[in-house]
Amino acid sequence: MRKPAVLVTGANGEVGYGLIENFNKQKLEMDVIALDIRKLEKGLRDKVSAAIVGDILDENLLQRLVSEYEIHAIYHLAALLSTRAEFTPDTAHRVNVDGTLNLLRLAHEQARWHGNPVKFLFPSSIAVYGLPSVGAKKETGRVREKQWNFPTTMYGCNKSYCEHLGRYYALHYRQLAADASPSGVDFRAIRFPGLISAMTLPSGGTSDYAAEMIHAAAQGNPYACFVSEEARIPFMVMPDAIKSLVDLAAAPADKLSQRVYNVSSFSLSAAELRDRVVKAFPDAKVTFEPDLPRARIVDTWPADVDDSPARSDWSWQPDFDADAAFDKYLVPAIRKRYADG
Ligand code: SER
Repeated sequence: MRKPAVLVTGANGEVGYGLIENFNKQKLEMDVIALDIRKLEKGLRDKVSAAIVGDILDENLLQRLVSEYEIHAIYHLAALLSTRAEFTPDTAHRVNVDGTLNLLRLAHEQARWHGNPVKFLFPSSIAVYGLPSVGAKKETGRVREKQWNFPTTMYGCNKSYCEHLGRYYALHYRQLAADASPSGVDFRAIRFPGLISAMTLPSGGTSDYAAEMIHAAAQGNPYACFVSEEARIPFMVMPDAIKSLVDLAAAPADKLSQRVYNVSSFSLSAAELRDRVVKAFPDAKVTFEPDLPRARIVDTWPADVDDSPARSDWSWQPDFDADAAFDKYLVPAIRKRYADG
């Protein structure tokens, strides 16, 4: 008999790393199938049941997967992030949209096959917002899910559209078919702020300056920040990001009043980040050399988000505010990481 499995795409990325560690600690009952375009990191390999190297655009590979495993949940993390996507927008669209459609289709086929809903967890992003000016950004403050949905990046457009695709699969799939029945895809999305991990560095994103700054300081390297001191967006540390995904996955379906949720924990300007980094690593050399086109993207993202629906529907509560994020997680864990080599 095929064992029930959880599929994690983009398993080698930052969120994948944290999620697989979490599944391992929780002693998840189901098999964990990791899929990534690159070979899974050594440290993760013995924490999954199978590590598959392959492309989410390869439909033959996906078909092979479903012939071997009975998939009950998909954490679809694979994506090209916002900076990288601006250099190759067509490829980004293929990976971020066509890839997501392939996985939604797979979820639907699996649900039909084993007769149970397939949970589909999707990391969306603050990049789905597009504030027209720094003035509007200041005036607006905390943005609710339905405000300012005018992304200015390919990545933001892709994430926004995939939120709609997921909602369509969950609620309206083939609504005109004579035998119309629910698709079985239980789509749930979280709009993440900039994520900071002590264990890994992001690649290809536009919120990467926060993680880059602190990791550079811990290694004794100078860092030239590519946004200005005033640039402000919400951030979250990786343990809270993983907690939000796992909590949303576990929430009873009848408690969810929407399919897409903001989550937030703290908001910092780049200068405030620098001050915290310098306090922890007094020799840190941080300068500001804004790369204007990239900095402009950050200016279109909200300074903070309103996450009250997540708090009331599934009791979302971050464990780390800015002080705890630095004092209890980032600084000790990053110090240890580089001291250990
Ligand atoms: N962190 C992402 C990026 O910078 C936004 O979701 O692209």
